[in-house]
Amino acid sequence: MVVALLRAEISRLASGDRLPSSRELTSRHGVSPVTVSRAFAQLAAEGEVVTRPGSGTYVSPRRARTATDAPDTSWQAVALAGREFDPGTQDGPQDPPPAGVIAMAGGYLHPSLRPDRALSAALARAARRPDAWDRAPAAGLAPLRAVFARAAGGDVGPEDVLVTGGGQGALSMLFRALAAPGSPVLVESPTYPGALAAARAAGLRPVPVPMDADGIRPDLLAEAFAVTGARVLYCQPTFHNPTGTVLAPERRRQVVDVARAAGAFVVEDDFARHLGHGGPVPRPLVADDRDGTVIHLATLTKPASPSLRIGAVIARGPVMRRLQGMRRVDDFFLARPLQEAALELLSTPAWDRHLRSLSTRLRERCAVLADALARELPEWTPARVPTGGLHLWVQLPPGFDDTTVAQTARTHGVAVNAGTPSFPADPPAAYLRLGFAATETPAELTEGIHRLTRTAAACAAG
Ligand SMILES: Cc1ncc(COP(=O)(O)O)c(C=O)c1O
Repeated sequence: MVVALLRAEISRLASGDRLPSSRELTSRHGVSPVTVSRAFAQLAAEGEVVTRPGSGTYVSPRRARTATDAPDTSWQAVALAGREFDPGTQDGPQDPPPAGVIAMAGGYLHPSLRPDRALSAALARAARRPDAWDRAPAAGLAPLRAVFARAAGGDVGPEDVLVTGGGQGALSMLFRALAAPGSPVLVESPTYPGALAAARAAGLRPVPVPMDADGIRPDLLAEAFAVTGARVLYCQPTFHNPTGTVLAPERRRQVVDVARAAGAFVVEDDFARHLGHGGPVPRPLVADDRDGTVIHLATLTKPASPSLRIGAVIARGPVMRRLQGMRRVDDFFLARPLQEAALELLSTPAWDRHLRSLSTRLRERCAVLADALARELPEWTPARVPTGGLHLWVQLPPGFDDTTVAQTARTHGVAVNAGTPSFPADPPAAYLRLGFAATETPAELTEGIHRLTRTAAACAAG
């Protein structure tokens, strides 16, 4: 709020003008000096103001820049030619919707569902450790690797674990490690757009393999391996994003066997292991892996906080040595304080309590959203009411375009994800992904569906 007031103030001033002092702003707006200095810091970081210690805060000279005196960077288009990088069409996780817009897009928990207090306490304990600022081993802290190994089950040991910067960091690394640019990578269709983006950034060609209510189809998977010669399958066997599907028990072994027969890796993205709604959660594929076919990926960002950017890759054989080598080249190791904080968090009883309460609250919210949808938009059909994860995957009736619906929904005050970016090739129909974990209250979900009802009417009329 203070930032907005200061922006208004700046818009009335010329570049180089002095802003009112912190003391003046404190008394004028009835806010604390800390709030004012945070607002100044944010505006300084954005380049809006410059602070001269002992003198005051001034409107930045950079603001005077116009289109005509902006630096000419057009030469870069030539310098970068042939090195295209497509960041994808998804909003970044760092882009929460503007105030007043109901958040049903994105894939993280609302702060009220996060274990923020336990996280802060864990970070504080981590910071008090005498070795908190020492270097960390390239593969990650040994006790943290042991926690990830135990969670994976089977005979996975700490030596099979590489700590990563969340799931996305792991995906980027894996796609670069597993296949040469230009190679195909098989993916479920639909799938997680961030995985498609990471695969494409590594120069790979995602090839769709259809799914049904029981997950990826092993018969078509075998065919896809035969036709493309791919050596990698990326899949999410448990609470798949975006559909919520769980790979059926009889298919779990089959998928790994089909990949093994093709001499290919299975990348098991297990991002939603802790996002179950209270029912049984199947064992990870890696727990039954015998020969290093399955590469498992876990992340703490989903059940904890997007800023706890800690995840893990579990892999065996030469591929693990390659990943460790890449870690040493890319960034040496991951920040020790964050690893220590993750370890502290996972070692407390508060973590288990959080996971239990989270699953109950996710189940409740999922039911609220599914009920409101069935009541108000019965022709918008969810693929299923999922037993885990953060989303409903909804097919739109014929005649609706998902991108138009998502854009129109924003103007009606609700943010949802269009389905198209989740498809590696042309979508077979129009879908939306509706999230139920990013609002503060379940009641907002009902209001979100009201707004979608108005959106549907506007799109039908248009
Ligand atoms: C299926 C899946 N995998 C991986 C990720 C990466 O998440 P993070 O990098 O925050 O761990 C996401 C995030 O949305 C996801 O949905």
